Amino acid sequence: MNPWIPSAAFSVAVMISGFGPQTEKADQPILKDAFGTHFLIGGALNDDVVAGKDPDAALLVQNQFNTITPENVMKWALIHPEPARYDFDASDRLVAFGRKNTMVVIGHTLVWHNQTPGWVFEDGNGKPLDRETLLERMRDHIHTIVGRYKGTVQGWDVVNEALDEDGSLRQAPWMKIIGEDYIARAFQFAHEADPEAELYYNDFSLENEPKRNGALALVRKLQSQKIRITGVGLQGHYKMDWPSPMQVQTTIEAFAGLGMKVMITELDMDVLPDPTGHQGADLSIRAERREELDPYTGELPDSLQFALAERYAELFRVFVGQSDKLSRVTFWGVYDKTSWLNNWPVRGRTNHPLLFDRNYRPKPAFLAVIKTGTREK
Ligand code: G3I
Repeated sequence: MNPWIPSAAFSVAVMISGFGPQTEKADQPILKDAFGTHFLIGGALNDDVVAGKDPDAALLVQNQFNTITPENVMKWALIHPEPARYDFDASDRLVAFGRKNTMVVIGHTLVWHNQTPGWVFEDGNGKPLDRETLLERMRDHIHTIVGRYKGTVQGWDVVNEALDEDGSLRQAPWMKIIGEDYIARAFQFAHEADPEAELYYNDFSLENEPKRNGALALVRKLQSQKIRITGVGLQGHYKMDWPSPMQVQTTIEAFAGLGMKVMITELDMDVLPDPTGHQGADLSIRAERREELDPYTGELPDSLQFALAERYAELFRVFVGQSDKLSRVTFWGVYDKTSWLNNWPVRGRTNHPLLFDRNYRPKPAFLAVIKTGTREK
């Protein structure tokens, strides 16, 4: 299909987009209703949304979503900044916000190589920690956090991004010090702390075959060891031309074939020129800002609004078609202004990756997505 031909969804979106923030319109379509019979739908929240500093965003979340994930506040550096100090202020706020609004709360993330302070991997003299002490530190961290939210956080991204693009295990400090069973142990500790919680492996670029095969092998290995793993998160940091709908479908089917719940956990769409060629969300990959890399500092041109709407629609058609295998679709953010993609892989650009624009207004992509849910009910 030619993406440049305006769709009906676009025309309607253009008509309503002059109304300003679409947070209180009684007749506004609602994502959680459109996909109610298919899967949960939600967003990653930063603390401003939860703490009352971005009330329009909070209203959007309350109106549109039925599941939330903390974008940052449960990461090790924030929730456990020093060896003997946990800071639960922001994470408690997020969980309370979710409960108050009867939303499914997801925990993100217990074991990752990013935003984990250096001290975690060192002894008191700055030397690398030994395996047993690091395992004990991991156990304490997971038991403390999962234990605190037992019964209130429904599922946890237990291990995040443990694989390289070729499907081999990333040489993260966890891997170097503990060895490859750090993954099994993390899942074990989480299961001990909350036997009812769903436990996920979460990663990007699993739509690419080599990495997908690595993740499938990882799941099979945990299953053969009788370790509880209940789901796999496909992060969904996508581009306009990657991955193809077929790659997404194949990936969902592959993990579901192992009995996994599959989730799209961090969905967004990078519309800006890509100076890196990287397919995914590896934070170590960065590029310098140049003017030609930041072409849409005002409104996104109509032609690109169409293309974005069509792109989201083609993906959601796959999600709806696979909804017997897919339990949740979570966007990585709420609206364009606060998306992490304004600062990665190039700092300080104006990106347009979500369904709501910088003024909290639904973009044509919003209605295009809504249509895929309601049409096929
Ligand atoms: O809070 C500090 C602030 O005090 C300080 O002034 C400022 C200076 O740079 O940094 C702030 O922290 C930033 C934090 O986001 C909160 O905004 C960190 O520098 C920045 O690195 C951090 O980026 C987050 C990134 O993960 C790294 O943890 C992004 O917001 C977050 O969207 C991103 O999310 C990850 C998922 O967890 C895993 N999958 C990939 C995804 C995208 O990278």
